[in-house]
Amino acid sequence: MYNTFIRPLLFSIPADRAHELAVKSGVLISRSRMLLKLTNTIFTQENPSLRQTILGIDFHNPVGLAAGFDKNGVMVPLFQSLGFGFAEIGSITARASSGNPKPRSFRLPADRSLINRLGLNNEGVQAVSKRIKNIKNRDLSIPLGINIAKTHDPSIHGEAATRDYKTSFETLKEMADYITINISCPNTKEGKTFEEPDTLDALLRELFREKDTDLPPVFIKFSPDLTHERLGELVSVCENHEVSGYVACNTSNIREGLLTPADLLGEIGNGGLSGQAIKQRSTGIIRQLRQLTGGSKPIIGVGGVASGRDAIEKLRAGANLLQLYTALVYEGPGIANKINREVAGYLSEHGHHHIHEIIGTDI
Ligand SMILES: Cc1cc2nc3c(=O)[nH]c(=O)nc-3n(C[C@H](O)[C@H](O)[C@H](O)COP(=O)(O)O)c2cc1C
Repeated sequence: MYNTFIRPLLFSIPADRAHELAVKSGVLISRSRMLLKLTNTIFTQENPSLRQTILGIDFHNPVGLAAGFDKNGVMVPLFQSLGFGFAEIGSITARASSGNPKPRSFRLPADRSLINRLGLNNEGVQAVSKRIKNIKNRDLSIPLGINIAKTHDPSIHGEAATRDYKTSFETLKEMADYITINISCPNTKEGKTFEEPDTLDALLRELFREKDTDLPPVFIKFSPDLTHERLGELVSVCENHEVSGYVACNTSNIREGLLTPADLLGEIGNGGLSGQAIKQRSTGIIRQLRQLTGGSKPIIGVGGVASGRDAIEKLRAGANLLQLYTALVYEGPGIANKINREVAGYLSEHGHHHIHEIIGTDI
């Protein structure tokens, strides 16, 4: 149904418009108990072999929604009813931002990938925190991750950038089952990010300054473009603070090996690449993280997950949980349920009783 009717329709309009339509429909469904129940009946199946408790949080299955699809937390109940095991909203920033001018997202069908330069558009921490309080008061049974980033404004850098993160962190920490710090956004006018060891160290020192015992688990989200050496340095910094786990990875700036013609890529211009084109790079980072941490910290694997096979590859490389965004665009709303069924099928075919039996078995 999605492949035959809905995707061709959505792909006939610009990607930015298609996303707006998807959000509008998602909000409508999220407000209707009847529609949520119906979606839930179609898309949600429990499987004990996929259930895990990680950092004290109960995940019914490993497939989560990646940050960026529901930036303002307007349709979390929908993702629960679509069979996702958890949802990460955001990135949320201290100040509201309308992001970059459109067009700002582009499809690369030949690569089953996307390029986006949305520019961290979101309603800002005050508006989103009010909304999240309401969602949490409703019957949400999946864990809610909240992703925070620095306000999209190059004049905010250095210590001001750290304070900007801190504002969002302090406002949202009590509402989240976990918080993800998106550190791949620019922190200087030259475009340097928090993926520099000293800057990350200063940021984490500030965020963890209060020695708060009630903090939810904090994850750090890396870019897939980090060198082996830089990733090692950043993990060492994180291990000196109370970081609970890692999200690997964000979108990529590298354009190597794409099937999409170079002239089309030139027309599209800058932006973060996601989907199948970054799958291998992301799995490589997961494997390195697993080696660097010896499996002591949970890893959320994200980047090109679109099938049970992709999921198993990332789990075997060391991911404890998974997320996806681009596959929702190419495969449709049934994708989490499909992946869960395929992973559960793989486990039983190979004589495994539980998902943790395959995590990190291929490093
Ligand atoms: C249109 C779009 C917007 C995104 N916005 C965010 C964001 O605000 N914060 C963030 O941490 N990641 C963001 N991401 C990155 C995704 O969360 C994910 O890390 C990346 O797309 C790789 O996963 P995928 O291949 O399944 O899409 C965005 C991705 C896309 C495609």
